[in-house]
Amino acid sequence: MKKMLIINGPNLNMLGQREPEVYGKDTLDDLKKFTESKVQNQVLLEWYQSNLEGEIVSRIQKAHSEDYMAVIINPGGYAHTSVAIHDAMKILKIPVIEVHLSQVYKREDFRHTLLTAKAATAIMSGFGKQTYYIAINSQLQ
Ligand code: DQA
Repeated sequence: MKKMLIINGPNLNMLGQREPEVYGKDTLDDLKKFTESKVQNQVLLEWYQSNLEGEIVSRIQKAHSEDYMAVIINPGGYAHTSVAIHDAMKILKIPVIEVHLSQVYKREDFRHTLLTAKAATAIMSGFGKQTYYIAINSQLQ
């Protein structure tokens, strides 16, 4: 069975409670269930969430020696600041798709710099709960 790693950065564990007008009312668990129901048995999704930059770096490094067909990453606020996550993403030899639930270019100026995206194969932003599914599906074609 093919598998993908889905990495979620800081504050994404608070989905559902956090700015629902921006991120919707679904929790991270709802998002998992929705995405898994869409991909059904085509791919195994392994979900990881951390609020800590170094833990996210270590998880990406670990993925280097694991057997994923792709990594989907929502770095949360670290997307705008983290050279360390950017550098870890560059280590991977498989597609790394960066996702954002919100349309970051419609938001505050500080969200317009996507530092980590420079190391991503592709980015997907603004499709709300569909965003992860669209990114995953792009790798299944
Ligand atoms: C986000 C956008 C980021 O700017 C923000 O810091 C997040 C969530 C998104 O999914 O839209 O935590 O990555």
